[in-house]
Amino acid sequence: MRENVTIFKHPLIQHKISLIRSKDCGTREFRTVIGEISMLMGYEVLSGLETELVEIETPMETMKGPMLKGKKLAIVPILRAGLGMVDGMLALVPSAKVGHVGMYRDEETLEPKEYYCKLPEDIDQRMVLIVDPMLATGGSANAAIDFVKKQGAKQIKFVSIIAAPEGVEFLAQHHPDIQIYCGALDRELNKHGYILPGLGDAGDRIFGTK
Ligand code: PRP
Ligand code: URA
Repeated sequence: MRENVTIFKHPLIQHKISLIRSKDCGTREFRTVIGEISMLMGYEVLSGLETELVEIETPMETMKGPMLKGKKLAIVPILRAGLGMVDGMLALVPSAKVGHVGMYRDEETLEPKEYYCKLPEDIDQRMVLIVDPMLATGGSANAAIDFVKKQGAKQIKFVSIIAAPEGVEFLAQHHPDIQIYCGALDRELNKHGYILPGLGDAGDRIFGTK
C-alpha cells in the first residue's frame, strides 16, 4: 500500500462498518452508525494535530497545558453522502468550519458533475478534511480536492469509510501530497462503478431516497 494511504484496523470501526453494509440496516440505524464511524475515524485522523502550551489557572495553581494551535480545521463534505459524516467530526472539534462541495456522478460516464461549492474564506489557513463515505472510481474525490486546492488549501486529508482499490490508486496517483484514510478497502468496482461488496448507494441509504 502507498505511503499516503491509511486503512484503519480498529475493531470498533470494522464492527460498525459491517453493521451498515447489511441490506437490513434501516435508514435511522445507518445514519447513526455512519456518525459513530466518522467520529472514530476523525479521532484517528486528527491524532497529529499540533498543540501549543497555554497558561491555565487551575483552582490550585498556574500551569501550562497543551491546546490546539493555529486556525484549526475545516470539514468539507462531498454532497450528498458526505453530509452524513459531518456531525460525527464536529462532535470532536465543535469549532471547525464547514464547507460544501456538491458533486454527483453521471450514471453513464461516471464522471463527476459539480453543482455547488462554498468554502470558509480562510480555507488557506486551515487543515481541510474532505469527507465522503464512498471512494469508488475516485472521480468525485479527485475533483473535490482539485477545487479545494484551487481555493488555496494547502493541508488536505481525504476521509472515506469504504474504498475500492481502483479509487485509492487513482486518488493517490493524482494527489500524492494528500493523506487518504479509509475505514475498509473492498475488492473491486462493478461495471456500473459500484463498490463490491460495498454497501450500495450511500446517499440513498443515508437519506432514505430509495
Ligand atoms: C457517491 C459517493 C461519492 C461518489 C463516489 O455519490 O457519495 O461522492 O458516489 O464515486 P466515485 O468515486 O466514482 O466518484 P453520488 O454521485 O451517488 O451522489 P449523491 O451522494 O448525491 O448520491
Ligand atoms: N457511490 C456509492 O454510493 N456507492 C458505491 O458503491 C459507489 C459510488
